[in-house]
Amino acid sequence: MSVIPTLEQLHAIGAVQQPTYDDPAALADVVERLRKRPPLVFAGECDDLTSRLAAVSRGEAFLLQGGDCAETLADVGADNVSNKLRVLLQMAVVLTYAGSVPVVKLGRLAGQYAKPRSSDTETRDGVTLPAYRGDAVNGFEFTPESRIPDPNRLLDVYNASAATLNLVRAFVTGGYADLRQVHTWNTDFVRSSSAGQRYEALASEIDKALQFMKAIGVDAEELKRVDFHSSHEALLMEYEHALTRIDSRTGKQYNVSGHFVWIGERTRQIDGAHVEYFRSIANPIGCKLGPTATADDAIALAEKLNPENTPGRLTFITRFGADKIRDGLPNLVEKVTAAGLQVAWVCDPMHGNTFESSTGYKTRRFEDVVGEVQGFFDVHRALGTWPGGILVEMTGDDVTECIGGGEEIDEHRLAHRYESVVDPRLNRVQSLEMAFLVAEMLRRA
Ligand code: PEP
Ligand code: CO
Repeated sequence: MSVIPTLEQLHAIGAVQQPTYDDPAALADVVERLRKRPPLVFAGECDDLTSRLAAVSRGEAFLLQGGDCAETLADVGADNVSNKLRVLLQMAVVLTYAGSVPVVKLGRLAGQYAKPRSSDTETRDGVTLPAYRGDAVNGFEFTPESRIPDPNRLLDVYNASAATLNLVRAFVTGGYADLRQVHTWNTDFVRSSSAGQRYEALASEIDKALQFMKAIGVDAEELKRVDFHSSHEALLMEYEHALTRIDSRTGKQYNVSGHFVWIGERTRQIDGAHVEYFRSIANPIGCKLGPTATADDAIALAEKLNPENTPGRLTFITRFGADKIRDGLPNLVEKVTAAGLQVAWVCDPMHGNTFESSTGYKTRRFEDVVGEVQGFFDVHRALGTWPGGILVEMTGDDVTECIGGGEEIDEHRLAHRYESVVDPRLNRVQSLEMAFLVAEMLRRA
């Protein structure tokens, strides 16, 4: 692990996708205040996740990573967070039970507030303003005032992440995630769908198995709580750097704003500031690989980001698109494997499948999302490697942002309840349907 570079060094390298703040003194003041804030996660928890991800890289576990494309400050509330968590727990149970494999649960939450953008500006009806870069940077509202980057938002994001994580920790250890609650995670709305009914049947089977275990005197702690970790794209240098600390126990540096952090498709330049920063932290990390990534790029990234080749340290999250994965992925997996590199392979079936509907919404087809995961499983099966997991953009609410699925949402229905500020998410029924389909793929893997 390299020494952590200073913020000045990172900016001198030329960090991309950063906001331009008007008032450097105000920004410096916020950074100083963040440096004094307590950590949101602890080094030992990050190490625990690394060992779970090592099991994924060995083919002994499956990663379920899910949450919003972009969290918003306005949505930090009990219902929003618990609905999301409930669906993630349902998906995990389906994958564990129907897929017969341990599932590592990773929320894309409590820190997912900054977005890389393809364009620095956005034009609507002839008016051009700075692009929305996530609530960590500026406001979504399309007015000149709202789009000005405000450093105080970084403190708001810290507070919102702390509140979210507090609720998550209470949920996963305080009885709500107890496997004996498996029926209560199925909310009314989901229950009436066919995926919901399928889930009811599965939950009843689990109930029976639990009663049997109780009858024979097994009352394991594992049934009462789940392991759950947080993750986000570590994009904004000021925020991530201010929340990087030296662990007094080991002397190693950790990003303490989330357990797992990843490098996005737009910031993975081998000599870039993000890769330089990620080299210096000991967290488990991810790196997105899109269709333009070559096998040499992947190998160079792995050598730089994980020089000791530690299993669980590095996860490659591929996002090719349903039409490209079968051509693009094999060469990458083959060469990285031949180079002896220990990585977990995870499929992001969302970001290569986005398009604009005729009705003007950024959307994805459920069948493309499932198609990319199927391609991912097929490629790994052909190569004898392990399809280690999925990263999904999803919500626990009844939104209409992705087309298709059992509810047959069409382009016209998108307007009904489209709430995402960036990318379209699977709603709770689509998420559960997806879990059943992936469980079937796992059974055959
Ligand atoms: C994302 O995960 O929301 C994202 C921006 O992905 P990518 O970096 O792969 O485009
Ligand atoms: Co997204």
